[in-house]
Amino acid sequence: MSYEGELTKISLAVDLAGLKLRSPIMNASGVLGISIPLLKRVYNSGTGAVITKSIGPLSRPGHPNPTMVHVEGGVLNSMGLPNPGVDYFSIEVKELSDAGVPVIASFFASTIDEFTDSSIKLERAGARALELNLSCPNVSGESGMCATDPYTTEKVTAAVKSVTKLPLFVKLSPNVTDIIPIAKAAEFGGADAITVTNTLKGMAIDIDFKKPILSNVTGGLSGPALKPVALRYVWEIYEAVKIPIIGCGGINNWRDAVEYLLAGSTALEVGTAIMTHGFEIFNEINEGISQYMVENKFNDLKEMIGLAHKS
Ligand code: FUM
Repeated sequence: MSYEGELTKISLAVDLAGLKLRSPIMNASGVLGISIPLLKRVYNSGTGAVITKSIGPLSRPGHPNPTMVHVEGGVLNSMGLPNPGVDYFSIEVKELSDAGVPVIASFFASTIDEFTDSSIKLERAGARALELNLSCPNVSGESGMCATDPYTTEKVTAAVKSVTKLPLFVKLSPNVTDIIPIAKAAEFGGADAITVTNTLKGMAIDIDFKKPILSNVTGGLSGPALKPVALRYVWEIYEAVKIPIIGCGGINNWRDAVEYLLAGSTALEVGTAIMTHGFEIFNEINEGISQYMVENKFNDLKEMIGLAHKS
């Protein structure tokens, strides 16, 4: 199969806040680290774009091991935002972008100046869109975990939006009592789309050693167990905001992807399923959606987005 033109027999092309994607499927930030060859393989496996690991203003080592554990229904990770810093990573973004891969740069920071500075650098490096990670559950507030607060969400979003022409996506946290005010704050701050959601905070205990397995005690749950939670958030946010939604959380096959589209997602991010299914997951989802469209007589992906709200 060629990925130069159409991916499947029916077009899966979608316009995500001005960003033209050949498929609505992308990798979720973080799962593949910062490896450029792996991100190229992701794109060559049929995604519409690739999303980088979240990049901070300075390099940081992240948390000590163990940082990941498989649990029933998914994976808990507590990486602690390890990354080489925006200056180094901008070189990698440029390499990917020069190779013709549409790059969405995920980033985090601690201050408004750092947020704006990073967004300028990532735009200059050739990123086609920015994903503002305000929702890592494994760090404290000073590392940008601010999507639990509408005021800060709006302030950071507006500041970044004021310095970039790129589409800006804001990734929200499921670890909140009410996500709607936060989604509205992101929209009010100028977000072009909302990514729904990051991981759900949880933990696991080693009963032989009688202590938490993760060095950071808690981690973010991803994988199939997260899907019903994130899907419900997509559903609710779709009814509350006008900007597009990027569904993210436990997408494990094409049926999950279709559910997210019907709930109101314009695009989708696949993370943990890459670990369990390999890169072939993207092609499988593209083919499955395409077949579903043919069988249900949809000519355009747009016809499916949010359709479950109308029935
Ligand atoms: O710990 C981590 O690096 C995870 C980041 C995230 O979920 O945003």
